[in-house]
Amino acid sequence: MPRPSTIAIDGPAAAGKSTIGGLLAERLGYLYLDTGAMYRAVTWVALERGVDIGDEQAVTALARIMRIAITRPTVDDGRQYTVLADGEDITWEIRRPEVDSHVSRVSAYPGVREVLTEQQRSIARQGRVVMIGRDIGTVVIPDADLKVYLDASVEERARRRYLELLERGDEADYDDTLSAMKRRDRIDSDRAVAPLKAAEDAIRVNTDNLSIDEVLSVVEGIIEDVDSRIEEQTHP
Ligand code: DC
Repeated sequence: MPRPSTIAIDGPAAAGKSTIGGLLAERLGYLYLDTGAMYRAVTWVALERGVDIGDEQAVTALARIMRIAITRPTVDDGRQYTVLADGEDITWEIRRPEVDSHVSRVSAYPGVREVLTEQQRSIARQGRVVMIGRDIGTVVIPDADLKVYLDASVEERARRRYLELLERGDEADYDDTLSAMKRRDRIDSDRAVAPLKAAEDAIRVNTDNLSIDEVLSVVEGIIEDVDSRIEEQTHP
């Protein structure tokens, strides 16, 4: 059976993209690439090196020169992958709250997007990849074999993020998490370049009342349909 080789999963924060994308890639034996980690890496390195986040040129120059590598987990500590910036392991640093609060601004800079989009495309060209983000189906790989748009209400996504923070042992407040989520949605959706939106040919899945297993079987069902469509096109 043919398989969709490039799978794009987009959607807002905490819609379930990384859980579903990671599990799906594992089941298919595909590479998993979380493109949000790349925007986070640029943001963290800028903060760490004292680059002014508001200085678009400086942040863009940093994105151009720094080397980001996302590899299989190098440490068994619950991570989905390892993130290296110029060889330094920053896997957990990119999850810090200060990165959360600055990453939307960094990812709105066209120059930063240009650099990272090019890197993502060259990975996509190798095929057998599940790529997750905000603009994968619309900009990075508009000719992806399968596009899924995962969504959930902002309250449900804030609830998931809040529980995640508590589980990690961080201090958290639901109302603060909800307003931060609404703010990020706004910046991600309103930016001029590659805003968060579903591609016209994306299949939308609302994950509000679905468990991880249920979402996974919905997506696997979609893959089977795409398989048959590809098969029909190849052998009409
Ligand atoms: O998915 P995430 O929360 O790790 O993403 C971090 C930020 O990066 C988020 O504010 C949106 C941005 N992003 C983007 O603009 N384009 C992508 N393809 C992936 C993430």
